Amino acid sequence: MNSLEGKSAVITGGASGIGAATARAFAKAGAKVVIGDFQDGTAVASEVGGVFQKTDVRQSDQVKSLIDRAVSEHGRLDVLFNNAGIEFHGPMAAADDEDHRNLIDVNLNGVFYGIKHGILAMMNNTGPERGSIISTASVAGLVGAPGLGSYDASKHAVVGLTKTAALEYGTFGIRVNAVCPGVIRTPMVGDFGASPEMLEEIAKSHALGRIGEPEEVGKLVLFLASEDSSFITGQAIAVDGGFTSGPVPRIPGM
Ligand code: NAI
Repeated sequence: MNSLEGKSAVITGGASGIGAATARAFAKAGAKVVIGDFQDGTAVASEVGGVFQKTDVRQSDQVKSLIDRAVSEHGRLDVLFNNAGIEFHGPMAAADDEDHRNLIDVNLNGVFYGIKHGILAMMNNTGPERGSIISTASVAGLVGAPGLGSYDASKHAVVGLTKTAALEYGTFGIRVNAVCPGVIRTPMVGDFGASPEMLEEIAKSHALGRIGEPEEVGKLVLFLASEDSSFITGQAIAVDGGFTSGPVPRIPGM
């Protein structure tokens, strides 16, 4: 199940959180992993027997160079996980324009460059299964998220890119999917200053009554990367502990 034996994989944002957990899952499944990140990812890369290349996903040429690195190291690209992302909080009318532009640059443009260069590399593969591209959207790519307007827009856009890329390249044997995590325990959650009390409140918005762990997202990404998901494409799959199922009842006993 979920084998990536001998596959060549690239992960952006692999130095931390969901990306690092997925790098571990990929390596355990037999993949050769190349990690691209803005921050230093040598520790995760050496832990998984992989390679790190400093990459700013806002720069198309840097994303291309990351993918070229996987091709030069391992002969091809089989799996691409577009996962790098940032967020900032606040009501829309108070948002700083530059913060908005920067977020769109990372979360949307970075994924666009990944899908574009990833497809170009995978088109050189032969056989019916040329490759699998997975991008990290969010539950904020499926529903509105007060206080996260720019983030919500960027993640809805990732879902849109995913569906259209799947339609354009499905007959070439390239599958394109997105994962939509609920709140996951990573440094990003810490970045917005979530206190233990806030996290407890946030946990209650998930049907399972808790936030998720990065490894729980990694397992879904691994499935989508592997040939076990060979008939799944163009999907935005929630891994959210029931967050998007509806409001969790707050009435005692219900
Ligand atoms: P994280 O902060 O642990 O990891 C994000 C990684 O992206 C970091 O290593 C960071 O250096 C890298 N990064 C940021 N800007 C970059 C750039 N310009 N170029 C290259 N790398 C860059 O956070 P986490 O939670 O692991 O985030 C991963 C993805 O999951 C993001 O796309 C995020 O939006 C998404 N996500 C996270 C959720 C959560 O609750 N933690 C929920 C839903 C989605």
